[in-house]
Amino acid sequence: MDIKIIPKNNIGGKITVPGDKSISHRALILGAIAEGVTEIDGFLAAEDCLATINCLRKLGVKIEHSGDAARVFGVGLHGLQKPTDALYVGNSGTTLRLLTGLLAGQSFDTMLDGDASIRRRPMDRVITPLTQMGANISGSKAPISIKGTKLRGTHYKMPIASAQVKSAILLAALYAQGETIVEEPTPGATRNHTENMMKHMGIDLDISGKIIKYNGGILTGHKICVPGDFSSAAFFVVAGVLLAKDGLTIENVGINPTRIGLLDALRQMGAKISVSNRKKTLGNEEVGDIFVKKSALRPIVLSGDIVPRMIDEIPIFAVAALFASGTTEIRDAAELTVKESNRIAVMATELTKMGAKVQPQTDGMIIYENHPLTGAEIDSHEDHRVAMSLAIAATVAHNSTRIKNANCTNISFPNFFQILGNI
Ligand code: S3P
Repeated sequence: MDIKIIPKNNIGGKITVPGDKSISHRALILGAIAEGVTEIDGFLAAEDCLATINCLRKLGVKIEHSGDAARVFGVGLHGLQKPTDALYVGNSGTTLRLLTGLLAGQSFDTMLDGDASIRRRPMDRVITPLTQMGANISGSKAPISIKGTKLRGTHYKMPIASAQVKSAILLAALYAQGETIVEEPTPGATRNHTENMMKHMGIDLDISGKIIKYNGGILTGHKICVPGDFSSAAFFVVAGVLLAKDGLTIENVGINPTRIGLLDALRQMGAKISVSNRKKTLGNEEVGDIFVKKSALRPIVLSGDIVPRMIDEIPIFAVAALFASGTTEIRDAAELTVKESNRIAVMATELTKMGAKVQPQTDGMIIYENHPLTGAEIDSHEDHRVAMSLAIAATVAHNSTRIKNANCTNISFPNFFQILGNI
């Protein structure tokens, strides 16, 4: 599907965004191996999470879902069954990495595979620590085969900041003999939804600074309320900062500090953003309403610890940076090259088609002040976050833009274009 975007010079109103993708995956996976039923409210019924449902069903787990409500009938830690064929994760890196951790310690063998983008994404980052725990995995990229085996606890110091790696190890730890310790590069380096949910479901993780320790305990089915996905809200946060003269409110969004680096970066640039109605949800996560208003932006150098806290938001941050009063640099973001697409190369190429001056670097980009952008014919490269970032750029441009392959927004945000139209 191609989509045509006609620019606007003002937006506003009150919106909500669909449930958090990371939390929805974890609710399904942890619910599947819990004792009893897990009820999920605010579930993200988008392609990535539906891929996790399909894989878990093939592992013998009963899951019902309708709209944003889902119910997982937990089979207990040792209740998964050998699937009859390969598990297909589609485009979902989280499904692939987390299930690799879950399946390493089973009493049966499995194969995991996915689409062309998944087959390019590195798996050594999960295979290395899992092998250290005794796992038997062949293949360095999907398709991979996992020979279920007995695992032992380990102490693994993560060389890269990755929540998927941390979560894969914690899932494998549930099946390992002895204590498992995961050490992050810095305290709170990556999203901590797995830890929050494990605690909510009855596991007493011992967390101190950058050390996360698991030493026994099982999961019990619980009710989980999934907050709106900050990574989806991010597109509208930037749209609001660039266009909302009277402000735009995004209600009930997850504001876990490990996720909202974008708000910190935009505030540093001078953006007017406030958060109200802060509360904890069932599931140990903080939510709030985000209010943003059109603001003048200063350029910054974005680097260091903030980068993993906004790793999925760098494409939309790059769009905001085009409207700063000077040159913005993004560094320490080489991870972007191994996401759903090479997001450094792809954002630089597509924004250049819109008249922007963006220099790709090996670990980031240099973005020169450029407004207004010009409408153009551009391509999502089948990457959902690229499609949505470009759609916001197109909304702020002069003349209309056509985005090719725009239906990949269904991966994480099926009603994105509808909400964009509404505001
Ligand atoms: C995710 C972690 C991040 C993020 C991805 C979702 C998760 O990946 O980019 O979209 O749910 O754990 P990394 O762990 O590779 O940084």
